[in-house]
Amino acid sequence: MSRVVVTGRVPDAAIEKLRAEHEVDAWEGPESIGREELLRRVAGADAVVSLLTERIDAELLDAAGPQLKVVSNVAVGYDNIDVPACTGRGIIATNTPGVLTEATADIAFGLILMATRRLGEGERLIRAGQPWKWGMFFLLGSSLQGKTLGIVGMGGIGQATARRAKAFGMDIVYQSRSEIDPAIAAELGARQVDLDELLTLSDVISLHCPYGAATHHLIGAEQLAAMKSSTYLVNTARGPIVDEAALAAALHEGVIAGAGLDVFENEPQVHPELLDLENVTLVPHLGSATVETRTAMAVLAADNTLAVLRGEQPPTPIG
Ligand code: GLV
Repeated sequence: MSRVVVTGRVPDAAIEKLRAEHEVDAWEGPESIGREELLRRVAGADAVVSLLTERIDAELLDAAGPQLKVVSNVAVGYDNIDVPACTGRGIIATNTPGVLTEATADIAFGLILMATRRLGEGERLIRAGQPWKWGMFFLLGSSLQGKTLGIVGMGGIGQATARRAKAFGMDIVYQSRSEIDPAIAAELGARQVDLDELLTLSDVISLHCPYGAATHHLIGAEQLAAMKSSTYLVNTARGPIVDEAALAAALHEGVIAGAGLDVFENEPQVHPELLDLENVTLVPHLGSATVETRTAMAVLAADNTLAVLRGEQPPTPIG
């Protein structure tokens, strides 16, 4: 029997699977586990099931000890994990791709609709008790039909967002590091372009690339200035892909029309200037937040953990 540390609350189905084979030490606190407590608990662990709010770095791996075999992130993004530090110690790192694709694309499209149709503004206006009535020019937004969606990062979530956009009558261009199956691109009517062309061409831009050194502030003042003043930017990937201060300035000055953000540069902090702007929709990192999806993510993380502890290949290793 091995010792598995779970760094935060996860659905019971995952804990039950882990408990059937191992001793499980799961953090049950309502708040995130503090760093000190985490370092203390991982000592002697054979496996760590981590949430994206916890930094899994060399210090933590050393605190765990040489018996640690696997770090299973309950997230598709793994910028919270120092993967080379894991690999260098012979530790397998895993993530949860696939199971959250549709839920995250739903939130991306929800933000596209909220931003272009000014739904947040309308909701805030009613809740603030402001007088209103139907008016020919009242809260006019921008139609999606016939417009161009630019997708940055055409992996599973980017493709799922493109499918939704196609159903809304949008044209799709994309920029991606990895090769896309030509049959999928053809089915979506999606055309590959470089980032510069995507920025100038798109009416809506949705970010779906992973975060890392190569994508830090991929969208900054220069890229925002390259967009049309009628363009909307949506980010459901990772906050630091966008320079939040530059975005706030661009939204304030009308450099672009609006934005929808599910992720932030310094979560859970939000750039204070964004809070004062009407043309940005802000939601608190809800991309995968459905009961079904979170359960599937946690169960996949448990399956990854169990496989490694059995000496088998995990279903979704990183890299
Ligand atoms: C959520 O942000 C994830 O990476 O799964």
